[in-house]
Amino acid sequence: MLKNFWYALEFADRVGRKPIKVRCLGQDFVLYRTRKGEVACLSDLCVHRGGALSMGTLKDDTVVCPYHGWEYEPGGACVRIPANPEGRGIPRKARVDSYPTTTRYGLVWAFLGDLPEEERPPIPHIPEYDNPAFRMVRLEMEVNANYERAFENAVDAAHTPFVHGTVFGNPDKPEIPDYTIRQEDWFAEADVQLSPPMPKGIWGMLARRRKRPEHVTVTNGWYLPNVIKLHVRLPFGELIMWDFNIPLSQDRTLIKILAFRTFFPRAWADKNAIKRTMRILKQDIPIVESQRPELLPFDLSDELHIRSDALQVAYRRRRAELIQKGWWVGDDDTVVSEHPHRRATVIPSPARRDNPELARAWVHKARSERGRLSADADGPL
Ligand code: FES
Ligand SMILES: [Fe+2]
Repeated sequence: MLKNFWYALEFADRVGRKPIKVRCLGQDFVLYRTRKGEVACLSDLCVHRGGALSMGTLKDDTVVCPYHGWEYEPGGACVRIPANPEGRGIPRKARVDSYPTTTRYGLVWAFLGDLPEEERPPIPHIPEYDNPAFRMVRLEMEVNANYERAFENAVDAAHTPFVHGTVFGNPDKPEIPDYTIRQEDWFAEADVQLSPPMPKGIWGMLARRRKRPEHVTVTNGWYLPNVIKLHVRLPFGELIMWDFNIPLSQDRTLIKILAFRTFFPRAWADKNAIKRTMRILKQDIPIVESQRPELLPFDLSDELHIRSDALQVAYRRRRAELIQKGWWVGDDDTVVSEHPHRRATVIPSPARRDNPELARAWVHKARSERGRLSADADGPL
């Protein structure tokens, strides 16, 4: 799992004046809206005794821990400790990590990392969201698989004839003609020629009115850290899916999808569009849940690649570079697990950089840049 990226964590209309827990990178976060309507995203782990702030309440713009009532402002600083007699100060260390947030494309994004603003990788651009020619539906589903397995599955054109032979792929035409990748720092995409069969149901009605083309061009792309775009140019219109593979933990993924279409652009066709996408997702799930090893290998040579896997290989190479930079969040960093832990870590937030004194000062053992627990490297706090 990669830190130092913007992650879409929740649909914006689900975040309001009641704290909610969301999970990403094996960590829990609390989200809530301030009175001005801005979204606060804090580590869900109260530094006092590790209470879950998401079980607390809001008091003006602060979130009140349900255990002993410590109050944290949206920037993460504790501003009130009710057990302290009047006049006693609040320790400087009494703060939780707070992450920058923004709302875009109907999603709340949080920057999970400590990079200063100018160094942060961008949020992918989704022009369809504001384009009235497109109708959007959204869906989500949790799977018991690693997010990178799900992510690679979504960008993988060669599996469609086999896994989706009944709805989208064409088992009679499994070849993937060679494609050229356009790659930049944070994304890669390619135009792939597929030969899908005639759609069924109401979409088939549209298809039958047109001459059936030899191929359709599908633009498959990945956007770091976890987003896949699929742009299918059907003879009767365009279908664009943005697929967010949110790593709840190493082995559990929350998939959220924004699916845009130019045909049947009215509400009555939404249910059908959701059903079709769900049907395709449900075909992928047993496959990605059964892949072994469960986690994507680090070493490129651990699996065999062919030409049609070039997009996935480009991802694995880019990921290896980011791991070198110390952006990887691994097993020993997760708070959320099946098993009880004696230690909890958090993803360092930007405030830790701005204030070196605080970098290691909190109860949580933040990862060092080199990917080790700072407490291991530096002795007890
Ligand atoms: S655990 Fe949060 S106030 Fe004590
Ligand atoms: Fe698939």
